Amino acid sequence: MNEPGNSLRKHRVKISALGTYVPPRLLTNADLERMVDTSNEWIMERVGIRERHIVDKGVATSDLAVEAAKRALAQRGLKPNDVDAIIVGTVTPDMFFPSTACLVQHKLGAQGIWGFDLSGACSAFIYAVQTGAQFVATGTHKRVLVIGADVMSSIIDYTDRATCVIFGDGAGAVILEPTEDDSVGLIDFIHEIDGSGGFFLHMPGGGSLNPSSHETVDQKMHYVHQDGQQVFKFAVRKQTEACLKLLERNGLKGSDVDAFIPHQANLRIINATAERLGLRPESVIVNIDRYGNTTAGTIPLAMNTAIEEGKLKKGSLVLMASVGAGFTVGAALLRWAY
Ligand code: UT7
Repeated sequence: MNEPGNSLRKHRVKISALGTYVPPRLLTNADLERMVDTSNEWIMERVGIRERHIVDKGVATSDLAVEAAKRALAQRGLKPNDVDAIIVGTVTPDMFFPSTACLVQHKLGAQGIWGFDLSGACSAFIYAVQTGAQFVATGTHKRVLVIGADVMSSIIDYTDRATCVIFGDGAGAVILEPTEDDSVGLIDFIHEIDGSGGFFLHMPGGGSLNPSSHETVDQKMHYVHQDGQQVFKFAVRKQTEACLKLLERNGLKGSDVDAFIPHQANLRIINATAERLGLRPESVIVNIDRYGNTTAGTIPLAMNTAIEEGKLKKGSLVLMASVGAGFTVGAALLRWAY
């Protein structure tokens, strides 16, 4: 576990802008009822999803990422060259290489900047924010563009009812900048990985262990495989544990949180965590009903929902939390800056 504080820190870091994007096409529960043996009732009751957005053929993760990035830049009145680095959290890069960050940089038309992809599954956005924040905090970078984007529909087996009802496509981007204002910005985080859970949520094919072949395709190895119950139990336990530790070491209680922005994997996971943390019900941000699980996209999309609902104001205390494939665990505290 990381320790609080950072001796190299010269600057406090804030999120100065947010942009999100989902593709227009909807995949509803009624559509899924026609595709697999499922029902609207089961999906709403067990997961809490009504509809998700899905890309059209030929639209890739970098396309969603670029739209989200353009919106964040526009909100702050910045040009692509005004950022110094791009970090893209994703498990569905356009291709193995070049990185999606390179593709985004090129599509935005930014010159002379650098960047990279970060693989943290559903925790990728939180991890990318903390990674980017280190560059800003030490003063080596003035602005970092952090994106969480996934086209989950590209790795879902739409004949497998256990996974196809859960996921959607989407992206969100934030800009990180230094701030002199002590009342806003990133406060603290606790991250943890536990590779012993790797097998419970994974895509086995296409990497160096199982290179793509007719066999890997026949065995459906290029799709998401999940032991839902194992992931569920781990998610509730570890997300709660990380958030409680984080609140405690910052002298805070669940009821102090103005906006709890969790990864949107299952409404039951969100509610179980919220209850264990003693959060005020109105502080819990939920939009899984509209977007499903967009992996790295869920947290920035939920930030946008919090803004739409008037729950993010300057100084609002935000607790972000995630558990994802790996397993990866993330929890982060910040005060909203605008
Ligand atoms: O974002 C990454 C992290 N991922 C997660 O956090 C996911 C965590 N896990 C979950 O959200 C839940 O475990 C699922 C939503 C994936 C599954 O819900 P569950 O309540 O754990 O269901 P289950 O896997 O225990 O299955 C219960 C029953 C089974 O039928 P039987 O064996 O009891 O007859 C399944 O075959 O529900 C059946 N089932 C479905 N029925 C209708 C599974 N999927 C469906 C479906 N429609 N789509």
